[in-house]
Amino acid sequence: MSLTSTANAIAGRQADPATVAGTCPDHLVRAVRAEVRRGLDWQQTADCVAGALRASLPDPAAILPVPLRRGDPAGYQSHLLYAEPDGTFSISAMVWLPGQQTTIHDHVAWCVTAVLQGREHEEIFALADGGRTLRLAARNVNPPGTVSGFAPPGDIHRVRNTGDTVAISMHVYGADISRLGNSIRREYTLPIHP
Ligand SMILES: [Fe+2]
Repeated sequence: MSLTSTANAIAGRQADPATVAGTCPDHLVRAVRAEVRRGLDWQQTADCVAGALRASLPDPAAILPVPLRRGDPAGYQSHLLYAEPDGTFSISAMVWLPGQQTTIHDHVAWCVTAVLQGREHEEIFALADGGRTLRLAARNVNPPGTVSGFAPPGDIHRVRNTGDTVAISMHVYGADISRLGNSIRREYTLPIHP
């Protein structure tokens, strides 16, 4: 594991602060900053940032060096690309080997995800039975070019690489993951409705 990145096989536990391990193109940082500074609500900000990313998705080779694009059998990896100095947003790249997945979790703030390589399978859950169980609300298979913006509440999900190649995605968070380590609010181990 790179010293400058975060292994997320134990996502949800307090992670170590990360330092920058890759590169985010300047024009993309400026585009995200412009949307964040509009001061819209979380869902609107996520939608606007998603639009900015959709207009200018980078090639994985432009944001991560070769060794970090290979993945790690220990778990999917999160590599910090950029952290805004005022803490209002941060950008990371995630690298998944086939079969690797997150826990079921939600986030402390808005988030935008963009699939750059491979396919990511996402399941979205809703709390049921007064919060005692989870119900599968939606299931998506996201090919390269898929950009999604979401904001709490209602952002409980699990992401998995169900393809047979390395998957790489870019994530923009409305939080400073260089300080927090990740943006996960809670992991869910509740029973899932059949
Ligand atoms: Fe997530």
